[in-house]
Amino acid sequence: MFPTATYQDRRRGLRAAMGNATVLLCGHQAVPRNYPANVFPFRQNSHVLYYCGVSRADVALVLTAGEEILFGPPEHIDDVVWHGPHETLDQAAAKAGIGTVRDIADLGDWLTSAGGDLSYLPPYQTNVLNWLSTLLRKPPADVAGGGSEPLARAICDQRSRKTDDEIAEIEDALAVTHDMHVASMRATRPGVRESEVAAVVQQVALAHDRAQSYNPIITVRGEVLHNNHYGNLLGAGQLLLNDSGAESPMFYASDITRTCPVNGTYDERQRAIYDVVLKSQLDAIAAIKPGVLYRDVHLVSAHVIAAGLISLGVMRGDPDAAVAAGAHALFFPHGVGHMLGLDVHDMEDLGDVVGYAPGEARSDQFGLSYLRLARPLESGNVVTVEPGIYFIPALIDRWRAEDQHADFIDYDAAESYKDFGGVRIEDDVLCTDSGSRVLGPVIPKTADEIEAVMAT
Ligand code: GLY
Repeated sequence: MFPTATYQDRRRGLRAAMGNATVLLCGHQAVPRNYPANVFPFRQNSHVLYYCGVSRADVALVLTAGEEILFGPPEHIDDVVWHGPHETLDQAAAKAGIGTVRDIADLGDWLTSAGGDLSYLPPYQTNVLNWLSTLLRKPPADVAGGGSEPLARAICDQRSRKTDDEIAEIEDALAVTHDMHVASMRATRPGVRESEVAAVVQQVALAHDRAQSYNPIITVRGEVLHNNHYGNLLGAGQLLLNDSGAESPMFYASDITRTCPVNGTYDERQRAIYDVVLKSQLDAIAAIKPGVLYRDVHLVSAHVIAAGLISLGVMRGDPDAAVAAGAHALFFPHGVGHMLGLDVHDMEDLGDVVGYAPGEARSDQFGLSYLRLARPLESGNVVTVEPGIYFIPALIDRWRAEDQHADFIDYDAAESYKDFGGVRIEDDVLCTDSGSRVLGPVIPKTADEIEAVMAT
C-alpha cells in the first residue's frame, strides 16, 4: 500500500469536492465461474483501491462530510481455515487511516438511516448492481440510471493526474512488461503456436507474481483488433502482434504492443508499413504536451498513416483531405489511445466523463467515433499511444462494394494486402509540464531493434 497519508489526502480531496453528499463506493465480490466456491481471480474495484487500497471482497467505503467508514465482513474462523491467516479488516482500515469499521450486513440500514443525498457510481458488474439494488431498496434499472455524474467527475479529476508514486507503480509494471515482450519476441518463430507465445508471456508475469492488466492479444491475425484466441500456428512470412502488459503490486496497469516478424526479419512490404506506423507513433508522442487536445494527437497519427499509405500507393490524394473525410479509417479504425492508471482503460467504467468535456459528444465518423479520449491533456495524465495499420478483408470488401472514399483509396492495391494482418505499436506516455515522457524501460521498437532481439 501507499503511505496512509496518501489515502487520507485522496479522500479529503473527494469529500471536499462532494460537499454534504454521502459517497458510497462499492467494492467487488468474488464472482463464481461455475459453482460458488470456484471463483474467477479476484480484482478489486479500482476506485476502492484508489481511496483506501483495500483489496478484499465484499467491502464498501462510505464517506460523508464528517465521517469515513469501511464496511466489510467480520472475521470468521472459516476464513482462516480455508484461506490462511490474513490481515484483519481493522488492520487494513488502519493502514488507510480509516478509524471506523462496520459489519457489511449493517450497510443497508446505515444508508437508510443516513438519508440525504447519496452519491454512487454506475455499477458495471451485474452482481454489484443487484447488491446495490438490495441496499438501496430500489429496482436494478433505477439503480443503474442513478449514478452520480458530479461524483464521477470529481473522481476523474483526481485520478487523471498521476502522482510520482503512481507513475513509479506504472513503471514497475512496465519493467515486467519489458521482459514479457522480449521473451515473446525470442519465442516467436515459424511452427510455434500462438498459445505457446502466450504461455511465455504469462510465464514471465507469473514468475514475477504479477497479474496481467487485461487479456493479452497475441496473434498473427493482428487485424482482428481484440483477438483473444491463441489457436493459430505461426507461419513464415506472417507478423505476430503482441498487446500485453503486467499489473504492478498495487494494481496499476501497463499496456504495450509490439509487432514482430515470425521469420525474424521484416520483408520489404512489412517493413514499409511498419515504418509508417512507427513514424505515426513517434510523431503522436512528440505532439503531447499540456493543453493539446488528445483528439489532435489522434489526428497527427492519422495524418502520418494517410501520407504513408499514399506514398505506398494504397491511398491517394491529399492526406489532410483524406483524414478530414475519414478515409484513412479503413486502415486505422480505432482511436490512438486512452488514459492508463489503475485500469488499463482508466476510469472508462464512468463512460465518456474521463475522455470528453461536459457537453462534448463523440464524433459520428467511423474510426474517430472510437476515440476514447479527446479532451485537453494535463501534466500528470498517462495515456497510451497506439496507432496501427490493419488490412481487414471484410471491411475492404464492404467499403469497396459501397464505393466508399474511392477518390482516396486504391482498392486494387488494398486488396493485395488482404493477407497482411496488422501492425500496432504502443507505449505508455506521461504528459509532463513541458512535453511527454515514454514510461518504463526501453522496449525494442524499431524494426532493426526487434530483429536484433529476435536474432539472440
Ligand atoms: N490493450 C488493449 C486495449 O487497449 O484495449
